[in-house]
Amino acid sequence: MPQKKSVYLETFGCQMNELDSELVTGQLESLGYEIVDRDTSADVVLYNTCSVREQAENKAWSRIGLVSQRKRDGEEIILGVLGCMAERDGHDLLRRHPEVDLMCGPGELDQLPMLLDNIARARALELQRQAPLEHRVALGGSRSRRWSTLQAAQDNLEMLDLSRAFHPDPSARAAGRSAYVRITRGCNKFCTYCVVPHTRGAEVHRPPADIVEECRILADQGVLEITLLGQTVNHYCYTHGTALSVAGKEVAQVGPGLNAFRKRELRRETATRTTSFADLLHLIHESVPSIQRLRFVTSYPRDFGDEVLQVIADSERICSYLHVPAQSGSNRILKLMNRGYSVEQYLDFIERACALIPDVSIAGDIIVGFPTETEEDFEATINLLRKVPFKNNFIFKYSERPGTVARGRFADDVPLATKKRRNNELLAVQAEVSAAVHQRWVGRETTVLVEQISKQEQTRTRKNSLAAQGGVTLTANGASLEQTQLSETPNSVPKQLSGRTSGDLIVFFDCPPKTSPETLIGTIQPISITRSSALNLYGTLNG
Ligand code: 5AD
Ligand code: SF4
Repeated sequence: MPQKKSVYLETFGCQMNELDSELVTGQLESLGYEIVDRDTSADVVLYNTCSVREQAENKAWSRIGLVSQRKRDGEEIILGVLGCMAERDGHDLLRRHPEVDLMCGPGELDQLPMLLDNIARARALELQRQAPLEHRVALGGSRSRRWSTLQAAQDNLEMLDLSRAFHPDPSARAAGRSAYVRITRGCNKFCTYCVVPHTRGAEVHRPPADIVEECRILADQGVLEITLLGQTVNHYCYTHGTALSVAGKEVAQVGPGLNAFRKRELRRETATRTTSFADLLHLIHESVPSIQRLRFVTSYPRDFGDEVLQVIADSERICSYLHVPAQSGSNRILKLMNRGYSVEQYLDFIERACALIPDVSIAGDIIVGFPTETEEDFEATINLLRKVPFKNNFIFKYSERPGTVARGRFADDVPLATKKRRNNELLAVQAEVSAAVHQRWVGRETTVLVEQISKQEQTRTRKNSLAAQGGVTLTANGASLEQTQLSETPNSVPKQLSGRTSGDLIVFFDCPPKTSPETLIGTIQPISITRSSALNLYGTLNG
């Protein structure tokens, strides 16, 4: 690298993007780049974008617009767009913002240092020639991968995943005690509304040995909680002995397709040669005992066999937490969405999960206002929410995504006002359901991975310190306090901490007197739950 540069990287969208950003950051840091937390102090500004929903995309467009303007005003910044928008929207992006210097799709992130290096060299050359700086674009995205095989691309990406283990970001997630590990990339399901199969490509499964190795390295570095990531994690299935191998080492392979899940007989015959998701969970649980919490997202409601549920039930350190998006409670809409299951099948799965896993915690996603959704379809979704003990549901208003089947096939005919109303109605129903789920924990003891000094606490401390400089502040109940009183307040009010149970419920509790709250962050603590709300649990630290 010609010279040390500072990099600002902002992430939009999902956990998969968060992991990608973590990998990119680790990779750039190891190459001598300095990671900064303000775009105004960076030589290189990178946006890791998401196309799944319009809102995240609009936010990214606006950020890109602001930096483009700064470049037009003469600031020397390298502007890079990573992730789904670079993959899907490349030409449009460059047409709208010719200031963008580089684009790099989610499948090419291992090439980012090379792209940055190319730009730096090109600029140095221009300066040497005393010529005005001509605009250069280093294109990542699938174009650059046309000539290479899928296998080679996957191998390089595999190295990027494995390399992260050596450069974890200690400031992230519960003081470095919580980490993501990818088990599959891409998706083959082609739900009609979804852009993911178009931006992240075909479903590819990592070899179990690599996944276990990554978990082990993270555990050795003090990680207590690992979240396995994939678009449909329960469809993980690695077939041994058939994939190409490099020097005897297994490599990532394209997923087996739906038949592998339907033909149970066939699977049993070949059971010794495959690692199923249940096998993988068991393998990690047994091979890396210092991982206290093993979680996974996101699950696909179909083909969720009892073996997986049984492994979760039998393994103390596998979290009883399932994120299984239903998307709709109407069979007609599920069909138009190409989800491949019925409401009855979804409910059958939930029943099995609740029967086999004590205290199972269930979360989901719902889309309201899918094309042609009637009041009757929407009522069916409300009914589904009332039947399932969802701890929470992420509720999204349908938005048409470019390149998806739904966009070509259906008119986006549910008015925005109707989508908003249905969204609000569902949120209200979900609040009632969540309140009941949280209420069940009152009077019980649970364990909490402590993550942070609670946000309210941070606000209170900030207000107090502002007041210490300026005079008056607000107390927790909103009344004004004189500065003289304040000198006693920060010490006498216990600090509040927050964390998550193994079922992903958020818990607030007061830090005991004489304990520094920072020492509890990143530890797992026993908490007695004393009260609850729709969103949270509240309790006291035991012992
Ligand atoms: N419109 C609205 N929500 C969407 N999701 C995916 N695509 C769309 C879309 N076009 C939601 C789904 C998915 C979650 C990650 O985003 O609920 O589970
Ligand atoms: Fe998108 Fe459906 Fe794949 Fe989930 S399963 S990523 S919603 S196509």
